[in-house]
Amino acid sequence: MGTAVNKPGRSELPRHVAIIMDGNGRWAKKRGLVRSAGHAAGAETFRKITYYLSDLGVEYFTVYAFSTENWKRSEKEVSTIMALLKKFLLEAIDTMEKKGIRLKVLGDTSRLSPELRALIDRTDEISRRIKSGLIANLCINYGGRDEIIHAIKAWEADPERGELSEESFSKYLYTAGMPDPDLIIRPSGEYRLSNFLLWQCAYSEFYFTDTLWPDFNEAEMDKALEAYAKRERRYGNAK
Ligand code: IPE
Ligand code: IPE
Ligand code: MG
Repeated sequence: MGTAVNKPGRSELPRHVAIIMDGNGRWAKKRGLVRSAGHAAGAETFRKITYYLSDLGVEYFTVYAFSTENWKRSEKEVSTIMALLKKFLLEAIDTMEKKGIRLKVLGDTSRLSPELRALIDRTDEISRRIKSGLIANLCINYGGRDEIIHAIKAWEADPERGELSEESFSKYLYTAGMPDPDLIIRPSGEYRLSNFLLWQCAYSEFYFTDTLWPDFNEAEMDKALEAYAKRERRYGNAK
């Protein structure tokens, strides 16, 4: 676990940073490579940024890795992404404890392979043993609308459910117990949410950059954090 670094202009560090990891395909195309090479490069960036945010002292880091809509892609591309996720989880099993990073997978895991689900069970088990440090949320087969429907069903099925309120409802979401994202970053020049954290983004600050995800790095993260530090969050209040 790292300690917060006080760089100029970073008066306020977000507790929860979320990123839509986009632009892998275009990054590969620009280099005359196959799309899977872009996904491999994007996975490296994810590793690098996770360690960076952990060192800075950010508490939660949520990344969008595979959406409920991404199954529309070719079987070849989907299997490449699933293979990269497997590789990532295997590495995480070896390194999480040493690095003090808890890993949680958010999404409907029922559609994932039994092999991936078993790895997720193992990372969950390891995460339970880690008592402090960054919580990294990896969104796989995640969709914001799917999450809300899933939560409604879970609420309905819960005999202990109390009065429905924004607060009580949040407990049935995949992000139960976590603060909403303070900062949502989308690279690659797209200006949309693509079904990411629809409930949780109500008062998030947004940061967009044209940089493609595999080219995103610590300096780009610093720029996003500096922009965030200058924002004034009002939550509907008057100044
Ligand atoms: C993001 O990169 C990764 C996933 C959605 C799985 P893309 O594959 O969407 O890359 P572009 O948008 O085609 O460049
Ligand atoms: C969003 O990116 C999903 C992930 C990054 C995992 P997409 O590339 O799938 O989004 P659209 O299709 O451009 O909206
Ligand atoms: Mg994309």
